[in-house]
Amino acid sequence: MKNLLIVSSTRNSNYELSHDIKDFFDKKTGLSCEVISLEEFNLPLYTPGLEETFKNSDSFPEDIKKVKDLLVSSDALIWCSPEYNGGISPILTNAIAWISRATEDWKDGFKGKHSLICTSSGGNGINFIKGFKLQLDYLGAQVMDKSIIKTKKKDIEKNEFLEILGKFYKEIS
Ligand SMILES: Cc1cc2nc3c(=O)[nH]c(=O)nc-3n(C[C@H](O)[C@H](O)[C@H](O)COP(=O)(O)O)c2cc1C
Repeated sequence: MKNLLIVSSTRNSNYELSHDIKDFFDKKTGLSCEVISLEEFNLPLYTPGLEETFKNSDSFPEDIKKVKDLLVSSDALIWCSPEYNGGISPILTNAIAWISRATEDWKDGFKGKHSLICTSSGGNGINFIKGFKLQLDYLGAQVMDKSIIKTKKKDIEKNEFLEILGKFYKEIS
């Protein structure tokens, strides 16, 4: 049984998109699928000084460990996140910074994992997708060449949605 983790950066439209995606995978065999929102976790703003404080007192906050463990134990990842200011939202950047510092090797949460980038943004979210793909590539993930894009004005076509998820399912199963 493979573990598919869907990470939503927010509790809003990207969380709804995450659940629409989960509905697709719940009908498939050989997979267990979980959705989390990064807003559920109390992740402080990453600074080197704060990390040093945690390391010196041997006390990484529980929520950092929880997110890190969820990532490390996943076999594949789907990311649903809005574009902010032509880039990656701070909640996602912050979570990735902590995960990379809480693992033994900084790539452990991502390396070799099939990953699909999705966005529900004001516009087409293309700057987020391009920037986040670069980052996931750098972290060693295997990022799918297609993305699911929802905008305020336009939902993704149902056929395209099903095609992209079907292709991703083939890659991970
Ligand atoms: C600080 C901020 C910056 C934003 N910048 C962009 C942007 O550059 N491009 C875009 O398409 N939408 C932008 N938006 C709109 C969000 O992508 C949009 O509201 C999205 O639906 C939010 O995701 P959510 O519904 O999951 O919270 C921005 C929103 C905020 C709050």
